[in-house]
Amino acid sequence: MVERQFLPAHVGIIMDGNGRWAKRRGLPRKMGHKAGAEAFRTIARYANRRGLRFLTVYVFSTENWKRPEDEVHAILKLLRNYLDEVDQYRDENIRIRFLGDLSVFDPDIREKMEEIRVESAHNTGMTLNLAINYGGRDEIVHAARRLAKRVQAGELAPEEITEALVSENLYAGDEPDVDLIIRPSGEYRLSNFLIWQSAYAEYVFMDEVLWPDFTPDHLEEALTEYQKRNRRFGGI
Ligand code: IPE
Ligand code: IPE
Ligand code: MG
Repeated sequence: MVERQFLPAHVGIIMDGNGRWAKRRGLPRKMGHKAGAEAFRTIARYANRRGLRFLTVYVFSTENWKRPEDEVHAILKLLRNYLDEVDQYRDENIRIRFLGDLSVFDPDIREKMEEIRVESAHNTGMTLNLAINYGGRDEIVHAARRLAKRVQAGELAPEEITEALVSENLYAGDEPDVDLIIRPSGEYRLSNFLIWQSAYAEYVFMDEVLWPDFTPDHLEEALTEYQKRNRRFGGI
């Protein structure tokens, strides 16, 4: 088992393969999302107990609206259920945040998210970022707009825009860059996840498992693999 001091500070997970998991069982895709939500609960709790500091999970992308309406609806319903039950996890000490353009959601969902964010803000355990209606490009556009407004207001000169300032203006601008990105299901791509923050991330693609079957042992396997990597950040 990887010792605590050698754990990546920030892990990102692209929770992929729900649809294929259901298809293999002759079930409707939404059953795959339901099973995926269960796997998520288990992994989030485990990661917190294991001592990870930041975990970002990709729940719904800015591109996922292209899916059939009933599938989108089923995913949003699972999200609602999760938001409703989060209170039960008070004892977990997890700090919960939402990354993405939340402006598109119904006011009741947004209020709930805000409530959870505020209530858990002082928790000292793992920070769990739920990327919802999240797109890495969209996030960078938002940051660019925020900086442009400050330039327009005369508060900032264009020359003062640095990489650090762009980072600070992302959705979770106070968090460290992602160290390790895990993607099950055999797809070897980022699909617009944390594209700015992953400039020097390590990647672990796991093609033998679909997200609903992902267990703490799979997470351990990825952490062990991460520990073997030699991160150079352009140095020697
Ligand atoms: C990931 O599983 C969940 C979301 C994108 C919301 P998929 O639904 O993409 O599963 P596959 O890739 O079709 O198997
Ligand atoms: C990425 O998975 C988004 C989430 C897991 C939420 P997709 O299944 O949407 O990605 P592509 O379409 O295969 O690239
Ligand atoms: Mg997919």
